[in-house]
Amino acid sequence: QKEEELRAHQEYKEEISSLPLQRGLQHLPLRLYKGFWFPEAILTGVLALHHHLHPTPSDIFLATFPKSGTTWLKALAFAIGTRNPDALLSRHPQDCSPYIEGFFSGPQLPDLDVLPSPRQFGTHIPYSVLPKSVRDSPCRIIYLCREPKDTLVSTYHFVEGMHRPEAAPQPMPLPEAVELFCKGLSMYGPVWEHQLEYWQESQSRPDKVLFLKYEDMKADPEANVRRMAEFMGRPFSAEEEMNGMVGEIVRLCSFEKLSRLEVNKVGVRGKAFDWAIKSSSFFRNGKVGDWREHLTEEMAEKLDAITRARLYQSGLTY
Ligand code: A3P
Repeated sequence: QKEEELRAHQEYKEEISSLPLQRGLQHLPLRLYKGFWFPEAILTGVLALHHHLHPTPSDIFLATFPKSGTTWLKALAFAIGTRNPDALLSRHPQDCSPYIEGFFSGPQLPDLDVLPSPRQFGTHIPYSVLPKSVRDSPCRIIYLCREPKDTLVSTYHFVEGMHRPEAAPQPMPLPEAVELFCKGLSMYGPVWEHQLEYWQESQSRPDKVLFLKYEDMKADPEANVRRMAEFMGRPFSAEEEMNGMVGEIVRLCSFEKLSRLEVNKVGVRGKAFDWAIKSSSFFRNGKVGDWREHLTEEMAEKLDAITRARLYQSGLTY
């Protein structure tokens, strides 16, 4: 079986090597697959998932475009699912649910049976590229959407903050990054199509996809935690409401709390594309509208114009 897995991995790599290749933000290699620019190193995982992921009806997928608040969503879903938010005091939210395409990207397939049930997975895969098994199964998806300008600024800082190898080029100037982002040349880009696909699915199949917005979550986290809990089939009981469980989950999962915990401040969390990612890099400032501190008016207008055009008549607004 091991040999078969190795052979399949090699075949995925060959298939990937024939896909269009471009350098995205901070020069990261991206491959165009089914209309989206995937980090090259992750695509083996996406292809493996198409063959090997067998979701159960109770599985929950936490889907996001990168830098839209995945870490927050993972912390909240974990706390809601376990009703044990205190476990987050010693566990990085990224460790609460595996990044499923990363998990499958190596030459050996992981054993998902070791995960506690109901299983939770994080993913950045666009809806149309999710394995058919996920789209067709009764498992549920929670999508967290973030306003593109803030997503871009967050992406820029995240990639810039990675520990780059010696030979890596110098950080890219912001204007260049904006141009690339507008062309969809960032991890899992373009952001607009990514969000639209999940939006449309949430409209036609609200039992399948719960569509949340980062900005709404910031404005009213308790209401959104209740929505998540109901969607996950774990609504809060009258007793839990009385005991302040919702407020406790919101407090423990807040940016202020999580970003100050030792487990989220120190160390390096594995590698991506040979670049090491610091534990702390998932927490920058967690603000709505931070783009104002970074983008020029011209850059913001360019992004807004694309947003208006792409989301026209979709019903999705920020
Ligand atoms: P900023 O860079 O704008 O601060 P992801 O988790 O998808 O990688 O997204 C990271 C973004 O979410 C970062 O945004 C980060 O600061 C923010 N974030 C992390 N934890 C958060 C939390 N608990 N509440 C709100 N935002 C959070």
